[in-house]
Amino acid sequence: MILPIHLYGSSVLRKISEPINKDKDEINEIVNNMFETMYNANGIGLSAPQVGINKRIIVVDATSMSNEFKELKDFKKIFINPIETEIKGNDYLFDEGCLSLPGIGEKVNRKSEICLEYLDENLSIKKECFKGIKARILMHEYDHLEGVLFIDHLSPIKRKMLKSKLKSIIKGKIKINYKTTKI
Ligand code: CO
Repeated sequence: MILPIHLYGSSVLRKISEPINKDKDEINEIVNNMFETMYNANGIGLSAPQVGINKRIIVVDATSMSNEFKELKDFKKIFINPIETEIKGNDYLFDEGCLSLPGIGEKVNRKSEICLEYLDENLSIKKECFKGIKARILMHEYDHLEGVLFIDHLSPIKRKMLKSKLKSIIKGKIKINYKTTKI
């Protein structure tokens, strides 16, 4: 089922998400809906709060970017109850966008590596570190579970420059070709 995506201004995007109970059926349903919703919106990553569920679930499928980034060839994954255990490497700028912030794309400064502890789709515990583009995608999605949006990482000047765009998202004045909530 395609779920409406919550846009900038929606309070669920600003809450810290709770761990989800290890109920396979419930998790499967949410994960399937999240993938369907993400594909429908041409996204490569989606976090549960973006579909109004304040639980710690992330889905990614960035295989469509594998022409540009070969390491993304098999990068389709589910992260249940992820916990960030380490962030390391060098800072670097990279373009980001977000289905909750349609029409906005900015270079964001982040570190190059993230280590996560999480449950996979079989609810087995995994510990894994990711580098480069994979780390970038996961840091963006992990932020959502902490109520953080990529624009929060921008300088005050940059954020000021986005003010009118953000206002038009809140007022529903932009055209979006996927299902969203009204604020
Ligand atoms: Co996002």
